[in-house]
Amino acid sequence: MEFDVKDRGLAEKGKLRIEWAAQSMPVLRSIRDRFTRERPLQGVRVAACLHVTTETATLAQTLKAGGADVRICASNPLSTQDDVAASLVTHDAISVFAIKGEDTDTYYRHIHAALAHAPQVTMDDGADLVSTLHSDRRELLDEIIGGTEETTTGVIRLRSMAEKGVLQYPIIAVNDADTKHLFDNRYGTGQSTVDGIIRATNRLLAGSNFVVSGYGWCGRGVAMRAAGMGAKVIITEVDPLRALEAVMDGYQVMSMTQAAPIGDFFCTLTGDIHVLRREHFETMRDGAIVCNSGHFNVEIDLETLNEMAKGRRKIRDFVEEFTLVNGRQIYVLGEGRLINLAAAEGHPSSVMDMSFANQALCAEYLITHAATLRKEVYRVPTVIDRDIARLKLSSMGIELDTLTEEQEKYLHSWEMGT
Ligand code: ADE
Repeated sequence: MEFDVKDRGLAEKGKLRIEWAAQSMPVLRSIRDRFTRERPLQGVRVAACLHVTTETATLAQTLKAGGADVRICASNPLSTQDDVAASLVTHDAISVFAIKGEDTDTYYRHIHAALAHAPQVTMDDGADLVSTLHSDRRELLDEIIGGTEETTTGVIRLRSMAEKGVLQYPIIAVNDADTKHLFDNRYGTGQSTVDGIIRATNRLLAGSNFVVSGYGWCGRGVAMRAAGMGAKVIITEVDPLRALEAVMDGYQVMSMTQAAPIGDFFCTLTGDIHVLRREHFETMRDGAIVCNSGHFNVEIDLETLNEMAKGRRKIRDFVEEFTLVNGRQIYVLGEGRLINLAAAEGHPSSVMDMSFANQALCAEYLITHAATLRKEVYRVPTVIDRDIARLKLSSMGIELDTLTEEQEKYLHSWEMGT
């Protein structure tokens, strides 16, 4: 079996942590039980480019229980949990290619290693696997039945590929399922981003000016949780509707030019490039803390910050101090990579339960519906989304009301008014 992990000696620790995560993933557990009986993925080769965490391990075990032959590589150079990677190799005989802190060459070598078994299904988080396949390994495209995509940034890239007629196989946008983005992006990113900032800095949020750039589902979650810790939250946006929503949610909304000189913490979650750049660094307060929780490390212009700095040193794990020529210091967390996975452990298991239930059921859907799918980006079928919500509620012991016959009839009629 091929693999590349940091240290197999970490496997025992990883096994216990995976077990801990699995306890909070009842929906995935029920899918795994069914997959064990029915083996819907028997013999299907799956290449998964995901953050290698305890939750991803639980998904990989589920796919394997369904009969899949799974290979995993990291979807970010800093997000791998090395003990988890070691455990998957040692205890589950799953090929993993991922090492926390790997350089860019190793990151892509690992993507190529995951592709080396000629996958039939791809699972991506950010679309690096799919783009590598479409650029460097086109000969493998014929074998592919379909793929899934976990995150907003990846879905945007894949929609652009589909619009340009470049996409060569169907992809299901797991991110767009309601049971994914309404929970994972909002509550998962909200909690884990604040967790990452606190673990990295041990600074007090209460009373601070906390600037959140981007008021999508992730930004909403971070704003909500930072406010819950007592921070005075400021939102920056480019979209007028989102900006208006932030105003009515009770936040201050302003341009980054206005926010830069007053922020104590800055967190970018826009999915776009150079949201924090020279003109902002120039006016930031001494000691400003800057981080990103968007998918790629492009949101903070670190190259320019480096040019502006007369000194640079690592002051604690995941905290780098840049001293500018104006004498002020700016602190960058986790090399500008997603701070919730770089300095903390990513989203808690109970939200990943729903995200990865979508992944597992969409992999099954791709296999069973292969003949009908085109080279497009698809939404998760509503029946899957709603089933996952029902399973999650039932795992919490929560019952739903059902419509009476009279109510059902009323909803389908137009005659009755005031
Ligand atoms: N993305 C965000 N949090 C994650 C986690 N815990 N596992 C896998 N992918 C994630």
